[in-house]
Amino acid sequence: MDTDSAKEGRAGGANAGALTGALTPSAIVRYLDQHVVGQDAAKKTLAVAVYSHCRKPATADGVEIAKSNILLIGPTGTGKTLLCETLSRALDVPFVTADATSLAQSKYVNEEIEAILLRLLDKAGGDIARAQKGIVFIDEIDKLKAVEGQPRATSGESVQHALLKIMEGAPVKLGGGRYIDTSDILFICGGAFVGLEKITASSHTFGFISTGQSENQKILDRLNARIKPTDLFEFGLIPEFAGRLPIVASFEKLTREMLVRIMVVPKNSIYRQFRERLKSEGVELRIEPPVFEQIAELAFEYKVGARSLRGIFEEMITPVLYAVPDRPEVRRVVIRSLFEEAVFVVDADQAGA
Ligand SMILES: Nc1ncnc2c1ncn2[C@@H]1O[C@H](COP(=O)(O)OP(=O)(O)OP(=O)(O)O)[C@@H](O)[C@H]1O
Ligand SMILES: [Mg+2]
Repeated sequence: MDTDSAKEGRAGGANAGALTGALTPSAIVRYLDQHVVGQDAAKKTLAVAVYSHCRKPATADGVEIAKSNILLIGPTGTGKTLLCETLSRALDVPFVTADATSLAQSKYVNEEIEAILLRLLDKAGGDIARAQKGIVFIDEIDKLKAVEGQPRATSGESVQHALLKIMEGAPVKLGGGRYIDTSDILFICGGAFVGLEKITASSHTFGFISTGQSENQKILDRLNARIKPTDLFEFGLIPEFAGRLPIVASFEKLTREMLVRIMVVPKNSIYRQFRERLKSEGVELRIEPPVFEQIAELAFEYKVGARSLRGIFEEMITPVLYAVPDRPEVRRVVIRSLFEEAVFVVDADQAGA
């Protein structure tokens, strides 16, 4: 589905037009809204961090502005990777994605990490200064958790140590004798962190303010939902590593309503994709609202976020895609329920029924 180039992101170029005008946090959020449903808090956190990163002066009145790497946490299939890929296409800074799972499986971790920086340099068109202000997204970071009883040298923990080298801002030597200073590179890490919510729940500390006001309750809930560095240590991130990810953006579990919107609203939604596909065969596809609710209900039960939507949708649409090429007289296909056959309408006049 995603091409490699989409995954890698592009340094501005053809897609820069998507984010025109001043690059303010709200403009970034508006752009993200076109592709990612919900997750407003995470979008805002990411937008502010990226905005600060892009306009950061070297020093302001002698005050060193430290960079704020970000950790994206949330259940599987809720849009973490999608959000970063979307962001990478919009920004005019070099942006690369790396996968922690493959780092953990590699025998040559340091070489792989160096390769990430080389890709960043490549995205920057070979301009070291530009690469030094780039963004690196490391996905599936939770796969690097330290496992008790596993020797450190062969575990994710050793990868965490290797990554520290580039995250703490030391100059890193690249092939060909060049150096890249990583102090201004923004790191975004993402992961599902399965089991973290249990750790966080058991370490709640803000239970003592008794209040009837809902506003205060909201603040309290927010504080309680906050993921503390100690929770991350307990999960298996080493302190030095967790300490370099000061900002945590949490993704919410998708509700049924969000699942419905995901199928219909985004620019590249499944419904739009299949409508376009049938349009190219001269057929209008019309799926009625209850169908999306039925699909969302099933997907909700599968508990893999939005991931199962496509599978269910494709299963429903396959008989239509199979039949349409043999029936050139069909003008419209109407699906009224997931549990009923699709209706093939030949004459456009009777289609409204
Ligand atoms: N909030 C969302 N808005 C729109 N589409 C979404 C959203 N969340 C998930 N999707 C859809 O589900 C797919 C999987 O989402 P994504 O890869 O971002 O999950 P993830 O949060 O990175 O999960 P994991 O932790 O398993 O990597 C996306 O390609 C997209 O089609
Ligand atoms: Mg992901």
